[in-house]
Amino acid sequence: MPADYRIGIVPASDTGAVEMAMWSLLGARPVTMVAWESFGEGWVTDVVKQLKLADATVVTAPYGVLPDLAAIDTDQDVVFTWNGTTSGVRAPNGDWIKADRQGLTICDATSAAFAVDLPWDKLDVVTYSWQKVLGGEAAHGMLILSPRAVERLETYKPAWPLPKIFRLTKGGKLIEGIFQGETINTPSMLCVEDYLDALDWADGLGGLPALIRRSEANAAALQTWVDQRDWIANLADVPETRSNTSVCLKIVAPWFAARPGPAGGGAEENRRPAGEARRRLRHQRLPRRAAGPAHLVRGNGRDRRCRSADRLARLGLCPGQGRVRRVAAL
Ligand SMILES: Cc1ncc(COP(=O)(O)O)c(C=O)c1O
Repeated sequence: MPADYRIGIVPASDTGAVEMAMWSLLGARPVTMVAWESFGEGWVTDVVKQLKLADATVVTAPYGVLPDLAAIDTDQDVVFTWNGTTSGVRAPNGDWIKADRQGLTICDATSAAFAVDLPWDKLDVVTYSWQKVLGGEAAHGMLILSPRAVERLETYKPAWPLPKIFRLTKGGKLIEGIFQGETINTPSMLCVEDYLDALDWADGLGGLPALIRRSEANAAALQTWVDQRDWIANLADVPETRSNTSVCLKIVAPWFAARPGPAGGGAEENRRPAGEARRRLRHQRLPRRAAGPAHLVRGNGRDRRCRSADRLARLGLCPGQGRVRRVAAL
Protein backbone atom coordinates (compact mmCIF):
# COMPACT_ATOMS: atom_id res chain seq x y z
CA MET A 1 0.00 0.00 0.00
CA PRO A 2 1.36 3.48 -0.78
CA ALA A 3 3.30 5.00 2.13
CA ASP A 4 1.06 8.07 2.20
CA TYR A 5 -2.13 6.06 2.81
CA ARG A 6 -3.40 6.04 6.39
CA ILE A 7 -4.54 2.91 8.21
CA GLY A 8 -6.83 3.09 11.21
CA ILE A 9 -8.59 0.66 13.52
CA VAL A 10 -12.25 1.59 13.97
CA PRO A 11 -15.24 0.19 15.85
CA ALA A 12 -17.92 -2.16 14.56
CA SER A 13 -16.01 -4.37 12.18
CA ASP A 14 -16.11 -3.86 8.41
CA THR A 15 -19.64 -2.50 8.60
CA GLY A 16 -18.44 0.21 10.98
CA ALA A 17 -15.59 1.14 8.66
CA VAL A 18 -17.77 1.32 5.53
CA GLU A 19 -20.54 3.28 7.21
CA MET A 20 -18.08 5.64 8.86
CA ALA A 21 -16.56 6.36 5.44
CA MET A 22 -19.94 6.87 3.78
CA TRP A 23 -21.33 9.07 6.55
CA SER A 24 -18.15 11.17 6.63
CA LEU A 25 -17.38 11.52 2.93
CA LEU A 26 -20.53 11.25 0.86
CA GLY A 27 -22.73 14.15 -0.15
CA ALA A 28 -19.95 16.36 -1.53
CA ARG A 29 -20.62 15.20 -5.09
CA PRO A 30 -22.94 12.75 -6.87
CA VAL A 31 -22.41 9.11 -5.94
CA THR A 32 -22.79 5.86 -7.83
CA MET A 33 -23.64 2.88 -5.64
CA VAL A 34 -22.63 -0.39 -7.29
CA ALA A 35 -23.98 -3.66 -5.89
CA TRP A 36 -24.03 -7.24 -7.08
CA GLU A 37 -24.93 -9.05 -3.86
CA SER A 38 -26.37 -8.54 -0.40
CA PHE A 39 -23.60 -6.58 1.33
CA GLY A 40 -23.35 -4.09 -1.54
CA GLU A 41 -27.13 -3.84 -1.43
CA GLY A 42 -26.83 -2.97 2.26
CA TRP A 43 -24.63 0.00 1.40
CA VAL A 44 -27.19 1.06 -1.23
CA THR A 45 -29.88 1.00 1.45
CA ASP A 46 -27.70 3.16 3.69
CA VAL A 47 -27.28 5.80 1.04
CA VAL A 48 -30.76 5.78 -0.44
CA LYS A 49 -32.95 5.17 2.61
CA GLN A 50 -30.88 6.43 5.54
CA LEU A 51 -28.64 9.20 4.21
CA LYS A 52 -31.31 9.85 1.56
CA LEU A 53 -28.78 11.31 -0.87
CA ALA A 54 -30.70 12.85 -3.75
CA ASP A 55 -27.85 12.59 -6.21
CA ALA A 56 -27.31 8.85 -6.03
CA THR A 57 -27.23 6.47 -8.98
CA VAL A 58 -27.73 2.81 -8.16
CA VAL A 59 -26.17 0.20 -10.44
CA THR A 60 -26.93 -3.43 -9.62
CA ALA A 61 -26.58 -6.84 -11.19
CA PRO A 62 -28.23 -10.14 -10.35
CA TYR A 63 -26.43 -12.80 -8.33
CA GLY A 64 -23.67 -14.40 -10.37
CA VAL A 65 -22.83 -11.51 -12.68
CA LEU A 66 -21.05 -8.17 -12.51
CA PRO A 67 -22.64 -4.96 -13.67
CA ASP A 68 -20.91 -3.19 -16.57
CA LEU A 69 -18.09 -1.65 -14.57
CA ALA A 70 -16.66 0.09 -17.65
CA ALA A 71 -19.81 2.24 -17.74
CA ILE A 72 -19.29 3.60 -14.20
CA ASP A 73 -18.36 7.26 -14.03
CA THR A 74 -15.53 7.58 -11.53
CA ASP A 75 -15.74 11.35 -11.62
CA GLN A 76 -18.60 10.70 -9.24
CA ASP A 77 -17.96 9.08 -5.89
CA VAL A 78 -18.33 5.32 -6.21
CA VAL A 79 -19.13 2.82 -3.45
CA PHE A 80 -18.65 -0.86 -4.27
CA THR A 81 -17.69 -4.22 -2.79
CA TRP A 82 -14.57 -5.72 -4.35
CA ASN A 83 -15.54 -9.30 -3.65
CA GLY A 84 -19.26 -9.87 -3.41
CA THR A 85 -19.11 -12.49 -0.69
CA THR A 86 -22.65 -13.77 -1.06
CA SER A 87 -22.59 -14.13 -4.85
CA GLY A 88 -18.99 -15.28 -5.27
CA VAL A 89 -18.40 -12.59 -7.89
CA ARG A 90 -15.47 -10.21 -7.63
CA ALA A 91 -14.17 -7.29 -9.66
CA PRO A 92 -11.47 -8.73 -11.92
CA ASN A 93 -9.31 -5.59 -11.73
CA GLY A 94 -9.44 -1.83 -11.25
CA ASP A 95 -8.99 -0.90 -14.92
CA TRP A 96 -12.45 0.70 -14.96
CA ILE A 97 -11.38 3.27 -12.36
CA LYS A 98 -9.76 6.37 -13.89
CA ALA A 99 -6.34 7.34 -12.57
CA ASP A 100 -7.31 11.02 -12.76
CA ARG A 101 -10.83 10.59 -11.35
CA GLN A 102 -12.59 13.44 -9.60
CA GLY A 103 -14.65 11.22 -7.32
CA LEU A 104 -13.57 9.02 -4.44
CA THR A 105 -13.72 5.25 -4.70
CA ILE A 106 -14.95 3.65 -1.47
CA CYS A 107 -14.27 -0.06 -1.57
CA ASP A 108 -15.56 -2.67 0.85
CA ALA A 109 -12.70 -5.13 0.46
CA THR A 110 -13.42 -7.28 3.46
CA SER A 111 -13.40 -10.60 1.63
CA ALA A 112 -10.70 -9.48 -0.81
CA ALA A 113 -7.96 -7.93 1.33
CA PHE A 114 -5.09 -10.44 1.78
CA ALA A 115 -6.34 -12.62 -1.09
CA VAL A 116 -6.34 -10.12 -3.96
CA ASP A 117 -3.71 -7.76 -5.30
CA LEU A 118 -5.73 -4.59 -4.76
CA PRO A 119 -4.80 -1.64 -7.03
CA TRP A 120 -4.24 0.85 -4.23
CA ASP A 121 -3.78 3.85 -6.53
CA LYS A 122 -7.36 3.30 -7.75
CA LEU A 123 -8.87 3.07 -4.27
CA ASP A 124 -9.43 6.02 -1.94
CA VAL A 125 -11.10 4.18 0.91
CA VAL A 126 -10.56 0.51 1.60
CA THR A 127 -12.18 -1.36 4.48
CA TYR A 128 -11.94 -4.85 5.87
CA SER A 129 -12.28 -6.77 9.12
CA TRP A 130 -9.88 -9.18 10.78
CA GLN A 131 -12.10 -12.21 10.83
CA LYS A 132 -12.48 -12.44 7.07
CA VAL A 133 -9.62 -13.60 4.85
CA LEU A 134 -7.11 -13.94 7.69
CA GLY A 135 -9.65 -15.71 9.85
CA GLY A 136 -8.90 -13.63 12.94
CA GLU A 137 -11.26 -12.50 15.67
CA ALA A 138 -14.25 -10.31 14.88
CA ALA A 139 -14.72 -6.90 16.45
CA HIS A 140 -12.79 -4.16 14.71
CA GLY A 141 -12.79 -2.63 11.26
CA MET A 142 -9.83 -1.40 9.27
CA LEU A 143 -10.23 1.92 7.53
CA ILE A 144 -7.62 2.86 4.95
CA LEU A 145 -7.62 6.34 3.44
CA SER A 146 -5.81 7.81 0.43
CA PRO A 147 -4.53 11.39 0.61
CA ARG A 148 -7.53 12.41 -1.55
CA ALA A 149 -9.94 10.92 0.97
CA VAL A 150 -8.19 12.82 3.77
CA GLU A 151 -8.42 16.01 1.72
CA ARG A 152 -12.19 15.47 1.38
CA LEU A 153 -12.50 14.91 5.12
CA GLU A 154 -10.68 18.15 5.85
CA THR A 155 -12.55 20.29 3.31
CA TYR A 156 -16.10 18.94 3.47
CA LYS A 157 -18.52 18.86 6.38
CA PRO A 158 -21.58 16.63 5.91
CA ALA A 159 -24.97 18.21 6.49
CA TRP A 160 -25.96 15.52 8.98
CA PRO A 161 -24.76 15.03 12.57
CA LEU A 162 -22.03 12.45 13.20
CA PRO A 163 -21.92 10.42 16.41
CA LYS A 164 -18.57 10.21 18.17
CA ILE A 165 -18.08 6.69 16.88
CA PHE A 166 -18.03 8.01 13.27
CA ARG A 167 -15.99 11.17 13.80
CA LEU A 168 -12.69 11.24 11.92
CA THR A 169 -11.98 14.97 12.17
CA LYS A 170 -11.81 17.57 14.86
CA GLY A 171 -11.89 21.29 14.08
CA GLY A 172 -11.69 20.49 10.36
CA LYS A 173 -8.48 18.41 10.71
CA LEU A 174 -8.06 14.66 10.55
CA ILE A 175 -7.73 13.03 13.95
CA GLU A 176 -4.29 11.59 13.17
CA GLY A 177 -4.25 9.54 16.37
CA ILE A 178 -6.79 7.11 14.87
CA PHE A 179 -4.17 6.27 12.22
CA GLN A 180 -1.31 5.97 14.67
CA GLY A 181 -2.67 3.24 16.90
CA GLU A 182 -5.17 5.16 19.01
CA THR A 183 -8.77 4.04 18.88
CA ILE A 184 -12.06 5.91 19.16
CA ASN A 185 -13.25 3.67 21.96
CA THR A 186 -11.97 0.60 23.76
CA PRO A 187 -10.62 -2.14 21.51
CA SER A 188 -10.37 -5.80 22.44
CA MET A 189 -6.74 -6.55 23.17
CA LEU A 190 -7.46 -10.25 22.73
CA CYS A 191 -8.55 -9.52 19.16
CA VAL A 192 -5.45 -7.37 18.65
CA GLU A 193 -3.18 -10.20 19.82
CA ASP A 194 -4.99 -12.66 17.61
CA TYR A 195 -4.62 -10.34 14.61
CA LEU A 196 -0.89 -9.89 15.27
CA ASP A 197 -0.61 -13.65 15.40
CA ALA A 198 -2.47 -13.97 12.08
CA LEU A 199 -0.18 -11.38 10.49
CA ASP A 200 2.90 -13.25 11.75
CA TRP A 201 1.48 -16.43 10.28
CA ALA A 202 0.88 -14.67 6.95
CA ASP A 203 4.42 -13.26 6.98
CA GLY A 204 5.78 -16.71 7.68
CA LEU A 205 3.99 -18.09 4.63
CA GLY A 206 5.58 -15.46 2.38
CA GLY A 207 3.25 -12.49 2.80
CA LEU A 208 0.63 -11.28 0.34
CA PRO A 209 1.87 -13.16 -2.77
CA ALA A 210 1.81 -16.43 -0.81
CA LEU A 211 -1.65 -15.73 0.60
CA ILE A 212 -2.98 -14.99 -2.88
CA ARG A 213 -1.40 -18.16 -4.28
CA ARG A 214 -2.87 -20.21 -1.47
CA SER A 215 -6.33 -18.78 -1.94
CA GLU A 216 -6.19 -19.18 -5.75
CA ALA A 217 -5.03 -22.79 -5.37
CA ASN A 218 -7.90 -23.60 -3.01
CA ALA A 219 -10.45 -22.00 -5.33
CA ALA A 220 -8.92 -23.87 -8.30
CA ALA A 221 -9.19 -27.20 -6.47
CA LEU A 222 -12.85 -26.51 -5.81
CA GLN A 223 -13.43 -25.48 -9.42
CA THR A 224 -11.79 -28.68 -10.67
CA TRP A 225 -14.20 -30.68 -8.54
CA VAL A 226 -17.11 -28.65 -9.93
CA ASP A 227 -15.92 -29.05 -13.54
CA GLN A 228 -15.95 -32.82 -13.14
CA ARG A 229 -19.66 -32.83 -12.32
CA ASP A 230 -22.59 -31.97 -14.53
CA TRP A 231 -25.05 -31.22 -11.73
CA ILE A 232 -23.24 -28.31 -10.14
CA ALA A 233 -21.61 -25.14 -11.51
CA ASN A 234 -19.98 -21.95 -10.34
CA LEU A 235 -22.56 -19.22 -9.82
CA ALA A 236 -20.21 -16.83 -11.63
CA ASP A 237 -20.25 -17.84 -15.29
CA VAL A 238 -17.34 -15.59 -16.29
CA PRO A 239 -14.12 -17.17 -14.96
CA GLU A 240 -12.31 -13.83 -14.42
CA THR A 241 -15.08 -12.70 -12.07
CA ARG A 242 -15.00 -15.83 -9.89
CA SER A 243 -14.17 -15.24 -6.26
CA ASN A 244 -11.15 -16.99 -4.79
CA THR A 245 -12.38 -16.51 -1.22
CA SER A 246 -16.15 -16.94 -1.26
CA VAL A 247 -16.90 -19.43 -4.00
CA CYS A 248 -20.64 -19.73 -4.64
CA LEU A 249 -22.04 -22.73 -6.47
CA LYS A 250 -25.38 -23.44 -8.09
CA ILE A 251 -27.17 -26.72 -8.66
CA VAL A 252 -27.80 -27.11 -12.38
CA ALA A 253 -29.23 -30.64 -12.37
CA PRO A 254 -32.20 -30.55 -14.75
CA TRP A 255 -34.74 -31.67 -12.11
CA PHE A 256 -33.65 -28.80 -9.88
CA ALA A 257 -33.38 -26.16 -12.59
CA ALA A 258 -36.87 -27.07 -13.82
CA ARG A 259 -38.48 -26.24 -10.50
CA PRO A 260 -40.45 -23.01 -10.35
CA GLY A 261 -39.11 -20.02 -8.41
CA PRO A 262 -35.80 -18.17 -8.64
CA ALA A 263 -33.70 -20.94 -7.11
CA GLY A 264 -36.17 -23.74 -7.53
CA GLY A 265 -38.81 -24.39 -4.87
CA GLY A 266 -42.49 -23.62 -5.22
CA ALA A 267 -45.12 -26.26 -5.74
CA GLU A 268 -44.93 -29.15 -3.27
CA GLU A 269 -44.96 -31.78 -6.03
CA ASN A 270 -41.76 -30.24 -7.41
CA ARG A 271 -39.88 -30.33 -4.15
CA ARG A 272 -38.62 -33.87 -4.56
CA PRO A 273 -36.48 -35.07 -7.45
CA ALA A 274 -38.04 -37.75 -9.57
CA GLY A 275 -36.95 -41.39 -9.21
CA GLU A 276 -33.74 -41.59 -11.26
CA ALA A 277 -32.38 -38.20 -10.12
CA ARG A 278 -33.18 -39.09 -6.52
CA ARG A 279 -31.26 -42.35 -6.81
CA ARG A 280 -28.26 -40.52 -8.30
CA LEU A 281 -28.31 -37.94 -5.57
CA ARG A 282 -28.34 -40.65 -2.96
CA HIS A 283 -25.13 -42.08 -4.46
CA GLN A 284 -23.49 -38.68 -4.33
CA ARG A 285 -24.26 -38.14 -0.69
CA LEU A 286 -21.38 -37.37 1.61
CA PRO A 287 -20.53 -40.06 4.13
CA ARG A 288 -22.68 -39.96 7.21
CA ARG A 289 -21.31 -38.19 10.22
CA ALA A 290 -20.44 -40.25 13.23
CA ALA A 291 -23.61 -40.84 15.17
CA GLY A 292 -24.03 -38.45 18.07
CA PRO A 293 -26.97 -38.26 20.43
CA ALA A 294 -30.24 -38.26 18.56
CA HIS A 295 -33.06 -35.86 19.24
CA LEU A 296 -36.73 -36.41 19.12
CA VAL A 297 -38.50 -33.58 17.37
CA ARG A 298 -42.17 -33.37 18.16
CA GLY A 299 -44.31 -31.49 15.73
CA ASN A 300 -47.02 -31.56 13.09
CA GLY A 301 -48.59 -34.57 14.69
CA ARG A 302 -45.60 -36.83 14.11
CA ASP A 303 -42.26 -37.34 15.78
CA ARG A 304 -39.03 -37.20 13.86
CA ARG A 305 -35.59 -38.35 14.78
CA CYS A 306 -32.83 -35.96 14.08
CA ARG A 307 -29.25 -37.16 14.22
CA SER A 308 -27.18 -34.04 14.64
CA ALA A 309 -27.46 -30.90 16.71
CA ASP A 310 -26.24 -28.95 13.63
CA ARG A 311 -29.21 -30.08 11.67
CA LEU A 312 -31.54 -29.13 14.50
CA ALA A 313 -30.02 -25.69 14.59
CA ARG A 314 -30.53 -25.33 10.84
CA LEU A 315 -34.17 -26.23 11.35
CA GLY A 316 -34.34 -23.54 14.03
CA LEU A 317 -34.84 -26.09 16.80
CA CYS A 318 -32.72 -26.36 19.91
CA PRO A 319 -32.54 -29.37 22.17
CA GLY A 320 -34.38 -28.73 25.37
CA GLN A 321 -36.55 -26.07 23.80
CA GLY A 322 -40.26 -26.42 23.16
CA ARG A 323 -40.83 -29.27 20.78
CA VAL A 324 -37.40 -30.87 21.03
CA ARG A 325 -36.53 -33.49 23.59
CA ARG A 326 -33.15 -35.13 23.92
CA VAL A 327 -33.19 -38.92 23.68
CA ALA A 328 -30.63 -41.69 23.82
CA ALA A 329 -27.92 -42.01 21.21
CA LEU A 330 -29.01 -43.99 18.18
C1 LIG B 1 -18.59 -8.03 1.53
C2 LIG B 1 -18.93 -7.91 2.98
N1 LIG B 1 -19.12 -6.69 3.48
C3 LIG B 1 -19.41 -6.52 4.79
C4 LIG B 1 -19.54 -7.58 5.64
C5 LIG B 1 -19.84 -7.35 7.09
O1 LIG B 1 -18.65 -7.52 7.76
P1 LIG B 1 -18.51 -7.28 9.33
O2 LIG B 1 -19.26 -8.38 9.99
O3 LIG B 1 -17.03 -7.37 9.55
O4 LIG B 1 -19.07 -5.95 9.62
C6 LIG B 1 -19.35 -8.87 5.14
C7 LIG B 1 -19.51 -10.05 6.02
O5 LIG B 1 -19.42 -11.18 5.62
C8 LIG B 1 -19.03 -9.05 3.78
O6 LIG B 1 -18.83 -10.26 3.29
